[in-house]
Amino acid sequence: MITSSANSACPFLRTRGELPFRFFKFIINWVKRTRILKPTPRNIEIAASVIKRGGLVAFPTETVYGLGADATNEDAVRKIFEVKRRPLYDPVIVHVSSFDMLKEVVKEVPEDLDKLSRFMPGPLTLILMRGERIPPLVSAGLPTVAVRMPASEIALSLIERSGVPIAAPSANLFGRPSSTKPEHVLHDLGGRIDIILDGGETRIGIESTVLDITKRPPEILRPGGITKEELEEVLGEVVLKERAGRPKSPGQLKKHYSPRAKLLLFESYERMEEEIKKLGGKIGIMVPIEDAGRFEGRFIVKSPGSFSDLEGYGRRLFSTMRELDEEGVDYILAIAPPRRGVGLSIFDRLFKASGSEIK
Ligand code: TXA
Ligand code: MG
Repeated sequence: MITSSANSACPFLRTRGELPFRFFKFIINWVKRTRILKPTPRNIEIAASVIKRGGLVAFPTETVYGLGADATNEDAVRKIFEVKRRPLYDPVIVHVSSFDMLKEVVKEVPEDLDKLSRFMPGPLTLILMRGERIPPLVSAGLPTVAVRMPASEIALSLIERSGVPIAAPSANLFGRPSSTKPEHVLHDLGGRIDIILDGGETRIGIESTVLDITKRPPEILRPGGITKEELEEVLGEVVLKERAGRPKSPGQLKKHYSPRAKLLLFESYERMEEEIKKLGGKIGIMVPIEDAGRFEGRFIVKSPGSFSDLEGYGRRLFSTMRELDEEGVDYILAIAPPRRGVGLSIFDRLFKASGSEIK
């Protein structure tokens, strides 16, 4: 029997018409290797020249790894969608290294930018009106563009050396947990991108806050590294946009950031224990370290850290999901964190990973 994965590894097993094209792509992928480079000045220069030539470079930011291409080069951006298997309706963030570069990618600079500049560089993405330099493909045809100035020396110097804004979604396959380590990028995208700049584990581990400041009051489309409380301090009222109708930001898709195992999210350990009685298969547990003892010896238990350190918990959230996947578990049972500060972003990612269901 030919399994579906064997099928995709052997493109010539598909329909006849596609054969020459698929065979050609297969050979290219096979010959082409992804280079993993330490972020020395020389290697950043090499990576920048790949960006300028229209290639793909994965690079660390303070949040998660990004998969970068020249944001002004439509063909290069199209490759991002292909290798991530990302649907074209999902717009990509444009990364800039300075306020001057930011001004080049937008139509107009809003007043609020001044107040928000204290978070930049940082884990904040702003939705602004798109300028002509950015092809519509980057924004999935929307009149807006998402812009972010990452707080990572490696990312900033890559953008600066490239001399162009860099379009970059998180460097993972679409719908999967974001990559917080270079090995995650290699696992998901190895062989299909040119370079991975290896900056070790990312500092924050959860993606940036996406804030739409074309709206009054401004709307948070995805909670992240900068909290609602911090934004309200400088902007006044800010609303957290709940999913309504067609998602505006896939951060708003019902199911996203998911491991391969089915993730079940619980409010309490009582509910979790009740569910365990009903489940078959191999069970993985993801809870704070202080509660791990309840499950050890019975199931595969991994902990991202303690709820008394939500930053640390967030940093290791996605890598813990990936570790449980590697154990081959069928289910990941996770407990919900307190929904304040960074806890709100952690809750958001777990909720999306569970297909937007809490038990
Ligand atoms: O921390 C981060 O934001 C990371 C690093 C690499 O910068 N990037 C990241 O990109 O998480 P991505 O593509 O995985 O998520 C970008 C989010 C998506 O939810 C997307 O829908 C939203 O930003 N977005 C991008 N452009 C938008 C736009 N014009 N309007 C509304 N949402 C937009
Ligand atoms: Mg993503």
